[in-house]
Amino acid sequence: MGYAETYARWQADPEGFWMDAAQAIDWIHPPSKALDDSNAPLYEWFTDATMNTCYNAVDRHVAAGHGDRVAIIHDSPVTDSITKMTYAELQQATARLGGALQRKGVEKGDRVIIYMPMVPEALVAMLACARIGAIHSVVFGGFAAHELAVRIDDATPKAIIAGSCGIEPGRVVEYKPLLDGAIAQAAHKPDFCVILQRDAANAILGENDHEWHAFQEGAPLAEPVPVGGGDPLYILYTSGTTGQPKGVVRPNGGHAVALHWTMKNIYNVEAGDVFWAASDVGWVVGHSYICYAPLLAGCTTIVFEGKPVGTPDAGTFWRVISEHGVKSFFTAPTAFRAIKRVDPKGEFLKDYDLSCLQTLYLAGERADPDTIEWAQKMLNVPVVDHWWQTETGYTIVGNPMGLEALPIKVGSPSVPMPGYDVQILGEDGHPLPAGELGAIAIKLPLPPGTLPTLWHAEERFRKSYLTTFPGYYETGDAGMIDEDGYVYIMARTDDVINVAGHRLSTGAMEEVLAGLPDVAECAVIGVRDELKGQLPMGFLCVNSGTTRSSEEIVKDAIARVREQIGPVAAFKLAVCVDRLPKTRSGKILRATMAKIADGEAFKVPATIDDPAILDEIREALQGLGYAPD
Ligand code: COA
Ligand code: AMP
Repeated sequence: MGYAETYARWQADPEGFWMDAAQAIDWIHPPSKALDDSNAPLYEWFTDATMNTCYNAVDRHVAAGHGDRVAIIHDSPVTDSITKMTYAELQQATARLGGALQRKGVEKGDRVIIYMPMVPEALVAMLACARIGAIHSVVFGGFAAHELAVRIDDATPKAIIAGSCGIEPGRVVEYKPLLDGAIAQAAHKPDFCVILQRDAANAILGENDHEWHAFQEGAPLAEPVPVGGGDPLYILYTSGTTGQPKGVVRPNGGHAVALHWTMKNIYNVEAGDVFWAASDVGWVVGHSYICYAPLLAGCTTIVFEGKPVGTPDAGTFWRVISEHGVKSFFTAPTAFRAIKRVDPKGEFLKDYDLSCLQTLYLAGERADPDTIEWAQKMLNVPVVDHWWQTETGYTIVGNPMGLEALPIKVGSPSVPMPGYDVQILGEDGHPLPAGELGAIAIKLPLPPGTLPTLWHAEERFRKSYLTTFPGYYETGDAGMIDEDGYVYIMARTDDVINVAGHRLSTGAMEEVLAGLPDVAECAVIGVRDELKGQLPMGFLCVNSGTTRSSEEIVKDAIARVREQIGPVAAFKLAVCVDRLPKTRSGKILRATMAKIADGEAFKVPATIDDPAILDEIREALQGLGYAPD
């Protein structure tokens, strides 16, 4: 069946469509129905069924005789090592860690925070939690202690599993001091921590810390614990408008059904194929396509610990693809921009045979036509953009290569996937005709696997997503649909920016900057950057009477965001201004500022050391004066 028929089949009978898809999952008690609308407009899926996600991702492949198949390849140029783990080994590892956690009192429904670099133990930890019905919450290693503390207080975990360090080019990031700092800052204290020691930096353990191996010694092997289809598998925090991140809840049942469906139909891979998503387990792409989906489908997944360039060179991605026989490859456009910048002619490609590669998938940020065309020319395979969010966990709009390769229109991630009725709405909430720009919304209910709510924040869930357009989920993106039904994603409608494929909140950065003693008022906007897509830029109004120079204040501002939010914020541009452009009622005109900074008048500054350009921005903004409402 091709795309049009499949989409029509879903439209005609969503219940039947998802019940059919559910047959690919091993249930303990199978669902008698798919959708639970008893609490509409909050919807859940497969709530009367029981299952276990770890069993489906690991044990059942072993039971089917595939225990010797490689489940995880850890390819780590930063430690110069490649290791492999079979499904049978992964089953043992998750059962042992799950058993050790149970022995220390972790039970179904308890939360466990995971703060680890790109090592296979990160997946083992996630799956071990899933196995015992505990709810994991992975925190990205590039976040600093304060961000971790905020998540500890929101998720109130019983345990934290962490690595001793991560390895970034040119430096070792010690996680333990960040973890200790976070626990000290947080009001909630976990019962204990489990620390995976890595050679690059051994952590000093405190009395509540257990070394990874010692913790598991002699532990019984945990059996998969039955959980309800609607029970949470994980919480993943993502940026919203404020410094308080949103805890996206992912339910077990719908997640397994939907992700399994995407592997064949969207990514065109099957059991035994090698699938690689070059992202990080701290992001949704890592949850869905490094860990869960490839394993649910019985594929081999690659855990890559490195960067596309410089570890050791711009041929790293090509080496990984050819060495491990990657069939489908998924990354963010930024990674390709980084390679293109270093090796525009693709010299490094000549060393590798990439005939195994069938498709390149891009997501996480807007895929600019230059990057798509360059990638297509270099790799000679279809380059498929697809659009989704942490909230959905998988593709909203894409090109379903396993169903049918649709014509690619550069600039569009293509068409809505079954499960998603995507509409462009005007300010009055009415659908707009083809070609008109508006807010992108999805008709409720969202399909299985998407967020049913935010962790302990139902009101915020309703307010953030369901209130502006009753009957729809508000995506926070703006765009249009053309006459062929292709969707175009143009911009965010909120204060979220996208830096190197990482979703960040300018509001969170403003909260940090407002805490500086010399800063009276501030605004952070996203400015265009050739490599990372966007970069945050801060505008600081300084208290009158301060004795410190603008340079000192800017330096403090940059250091403070790095220390509070983390290096991943990439906050390196800031400037002191006399005042900020505002409406008469006092609202800062961030959108206008962003337009000016994005305009033709000047190029976005490459570095903070470019005072001429920064002055130009300052003048342009000051020239704005006070605009009417
Ligand atoms: N732990 C600690 N620090 C981290 C980190 C981690 N896991 N990940 C990133 N950082 C640090 C980086 O070292 C960098 O620090 P610096 O300011 O000292 O240089 C900073 O955070 C910014 O990181 P990033 O924006 O990723 O820039 P980069 O220069 O390290 O790498 C790319 C740029 C393009 C190579 C990289 O972002 C990339 O590969 N992105 C695409 C893939 C991806 O992960 N997408 C996510 C969603 S699909
Ligand atoms: P995240 O929740 O981190 O996955 O970020 C989701 C946001 O990234 C979306 O709401 C979009 O703003 C942006 N995004 C993701 N994929 C794409 C894409 N293919 N094209 C344009 N923007 C995208």
